[in-house]
Amino acid sequence: MSKISKKTKPSKPKAATQINGQDIMGNEWAYSDEVREHFFKPQNFVTEAPKDYNGLGMVGSPACGDMMKVWLKIDSKTEKITKFFWQTFGCASAIAATSMLSVMVTEKGGKTIAEALKITPTDIIKRLSGLPSRKIHCSVLGDKALEAAINDYFQRTNQKERIKASGSRVIDKELNITDKDIEQAVKDGAKTLEEVQQKTKVGLGDPNCLPEAEELVRFYVEKYY
Ligand code: FES
Repeated sequence: MSKISKKTKPSKPKAATQINGQDIMGNEWAYSDEVREHFFKPQNFVTEAPKDYNGLGMVGSPACGDMMKVWLKIDSKTEKITKFFWQTFGCASAIAATSMLSVMVTEKGGKTIAEALKITPTDIIKRLSGLPSRKIHCSVLGDKALEAAINDYFQRTNQKERIKASGSRVIDKELNITDKDIEQAVKDGAKTLEEVQQKTKVGLGDPNCLPEAEELVRFYVEKYY
């Protein structure tokens, strides 16, 4: 990969914890070196479907309509994910986040299914040294496709009882945001409706759902804090 010239080198965000609420408007270049590295040189990206896989997941982003496809190779004895290939029509942030996720899942011999399911969008963003707040939903795409691919593996290997239901109740019908998305946002540190909106965009599609969304935020904040 070509080196970044000093002239165009972005100022690196200071700490991952400060990034979620950070307003990047006005900055010439808002992406960290890690994001640029993974965007210009995506890891495990494929242009054609791989032949050897046993889990396939495909999801669309409720916030922007972009798509993500993930193929996994899972060792049935150890349950380690040894291969993670992906394709997307998403933006630079989705490319960088999924590239990083594929590295996190397969590094050091591969994570087990249980370990991989514990990775959150916040973990990915930390490894990327941050994403602009309006791009956080892009990091959720790969994460959801990974979960869908693991569910597909359970389906193919007759372990239907292990399939994890994703999203039990739709709250924002326009953007297809569920109570599970709100719960995850709270678990990831959002404690107010505004903070949950930064992570999920709930209410931007259907403002009528805001009272219900706010109630759920209160409920999950009480549950987890
Ligand atoms: S994935 Fe659609 S804007 Fe990033």
